[in-house]
Amino acid sequence: MRCAVIGPTGSLGSHICLELLNRGHDVVGVSRSPEKLGRHERYQPKSFDLAGGTIEDLEHVLKDVEVVVNAYNPPLDANTYKTFLEATRCIVKAVKSLNSDGKGPYLIQVGGTGSLEVPGRKHETVLDSRRWWLTLRRTVGDSAAATAHMVERIGPGPVAQSFEEYRNARLAVQAGQLTKINQSKVEQTEDMILHGPNPFPDLPLAARAALMMFEGNESFKWLFVSPPAKYRPGVKTGKYEIWKDKIPMLSTSSVDTTTTDWDEVWHNLLGISVADLAVAIVDEVEVPQKVGVHWSAGGDLLDDVPRSGYVTI
Ligand SMILES: NC(=O)c1ccc[n+]([C@@H]2O[C@H](COP(=O)([O-])OP(=O)(O)OC[C@H]3O[C@@H](n4cnc5c(N)ncnc54)[C@H](OP(=O)(O)O)[C@@H]3O)[C@@H](O)[C@H]2O)c1
Repeated sequence: MRCAVIGPTGSLGSHICLELLNRGHDVVGVSRSPEKLGRHERYQPKSFDLAGGTIEDLEHVLKDVEVVVNAYNPPLDANTYKTFLEATRCIVKAVKSLNSDGKGPYLIQVGGTGSLEVPGRKHETVLDSRRWWLTLRRTVGDSAAATAHMVERIGPGPVAQSFEEYRNARLAVQAGQLTKINQSKVEQTEDMILHGPNPFPDLPLAARAALMMFEGNESFKWLFVSPPAKYRPGVKTGKYEIWKDKIPMLSTSSVDTTTTDWDEVWHNLLGISVADLAVAIVDEVEVPQKVGVHWSAGGDLLDDVPRSGYVTI
């Protein structure tokens, strides 16, 4: 099978390319510098800039593939929301155009945890509640592997530093080191989420808005994948379970945001390693079973060891 991966040098994209190549498929890598993934006889890098390229040019790049996996990620800056939505629009338009004869590629789009619905609440996603978002933020802070991955993805700078400082302060407070610095770092971070003016980051908001380009759309074949709460580099087990629309959790009983025990919610949240999410996506590439569905996947996180979230071929 010939598949295009948009964002082949990214964390998830590189794992998907490796999984596809290991299973004998031909891969077209599409990004600004797709050659950085490495060399392989079945890997064809095609340079394309989503921030400047035309829909027609992208159509040309994707014209002979059966599946397109979009694992593109925009830079985190003041334009992230716009950049992500414009890039998604460009990809959707190119795929729709290729599907004018009904034989266009299957588009598998990757979004974010923020699009997933909370148990028992109609139309409510985790991005509708500050308390939910804080709980998700804590899942990153309490994991060495997730914090290291966040820092690796963002690169050095104040945002990465604040992720590390929050984790260290939280660990110190949990260990009884109740210094003013530790307590105020935890309080400041959590206070911004619970009471600040902009609690929800632009990228998950953009991914949630992008879902609207897909849901109910029958003009092309699509699948929308939202990673679960605890998503990070880890061991590949090859095992996972699919969750439609909902956030993967052990307990699926309704969560009342005013009275709930958030520590219990935290413990109930499921996760998956980047490698296993790539397995789940490539399984769907090979045997499409969820066309027109928004799903997430929960697997086994066997350890919490920081490791690089990127692979090469
Ligand atoms: N918990 C969550 O919900 C969660 C966590 C992590 C990621 N995600 C989602 O998963 C997806 C993949 O994220 P990731 O962290 O794996 O990505 P990443 O490591 O940040 O990689 C980004 C990829 O996008 C490409 N790219 C960036 N700008 C581009 C442009 N202008 N034109 C073409 N390609 C461009 C990059 O390649 P070049 O530099 O070569 O262009 C790279 O391959 C995203 O949708 C992200 O939001 C969700």
